[in-house]
Amino acid sequence: MKQRELGKSGLMVSEMGLGTMSFGPKIDEKESFKRMDEYVAAGGNFFDTANIYGRSPSGNSDAGDSERIIGRWLKETGKRGEIVLASKVGFPYPGIEYGTTKKQIKEECVKTLQKLGTDYLDLYYLHTDDFDTPMEESLGALQELIKEGKVRHIGASNFSAWRLERSLAICRENGWEPFCCVQQRHSYLRPKQESVFGQQKYVELEMKEFIKDTGMTLIAYCPLIKGAYGKKNVGVPGQYISEDSRIRLKVLEEISKESGISPIQLVYYWLMNSSPSAIPLIAPSTWEQFQEAVGTLDVNASKYMQRMDEAADGNLGPDFRTPMYF
Ligand SMILES: NC(=O)c1ccc[n+]([C@@H]2O[C@H](COP(=O)([O-])OP(=O)(O)OC[C@H]3O[C@@H](n4cnc5c(N)ncnc54)[C@H](OP(=O)(O)O)[C@@H]3O)[C@@H](O)[C@H]2O)c1
Repeated sequence: MKQRELGKSGLMVSEMGLGTMSFGPKIDEKESFKRMDEYVAAGGNFFDTANIYGRSPSGNSDAGDSERIIGRWLKETGKRGEIVLASKVGFPYPGIEYGTTKKQIKEECVKTLQKLGTDYLDLYYLHTDDFDTPMEESLGALQELIKEGKVRHIGASNFSAWRLERSLAICRENGWEPFCCVQQRHSYLRPKQESVFGQQKYVELEMKEFIKDTGMTLIAYCPLIKGAYGKKNVGVPGQYISEDSRIRLKVLEEISKESGISPIQLVYYWLMNSSPSAIPLIAPSTWEQFQEAVGTLDVNASKYMQRMDEAADGNLGPDFRTPMYF
């Protein structure tokens, strides 16, 4: 697996990250260990977790949650030094409210470090953009964690472009380390305009332009929209049901038949080779799914990129076929 720098941070991560949200309740500890072993054996180094992942509904911290499972794997394998470890703060769980106040960030970071059995995180994200806490307070807390050696670099997740621009201005004014990456919902299918996913934010045109302009790295979560492209045909969530998606799925199917590359691999390939390119967080439940995901690294779908990019664009019928839209 090749590596890429996260923004201008100097931190090198693999071109596919390992999502660990399902470690615990959905993927038990034994299987989770297998996914981490397989991913590292394939050359991967970038683990993505969060303080809320894999918790039991009661929030019982003794349940096998994602951070604890990763912590036990790191202890057993002794591989902490080889892994770029990312976690997040901001979403609620029983006993902890939503938000990114200074108190919340600093206390949750200590808990996360304890669970992971490490004294530093390579990357710490604000999991959400908390409009009720001044951005200066949240960013200031992250800078303190950097000074204390608990965190090396910082990232943002579920932010809009204008808020990221504001964060850059605050960091410039204060001489602070800025966010090096932004983690958003991102896939080949595009949600309908104005779609809402709770606090989650998806990548739209403005965010793409912002990323190209600033050089922040884009990390794509829910790259498969939880199996929407798979053989199991779990279905496309309502926010994605549109003529645009129908055409894009049809194009994927056509290219897959022509090329022998699976629709899932085409989606990963497209994410990794579009402009701006993204680091997809793969989250395979099984060895077969893992093989399919990393198999993307062996395919070349460059000759299909334009067709995938342009699928459904401008396909608005004869009345709209004018060179300019006034
Ligand atoms: N920042 C945020 O707010 C945020 C939000 C969500 C997720 N995340 C991160 O992003 C990671 C990925 O998110 P996600 O789990 O929603 O990703 P996803 O890729 O959209 O969905 C993963 C699911 O797709 C299916 N799948 C995976 N590989 C497959 C394959 N090769 N063939 C067929 N089906 C396949 C599996 O479902 P089955 O087991 O049912 O087959 C798997 O559980 C998470 O683990 C987490 O680290 C971040």
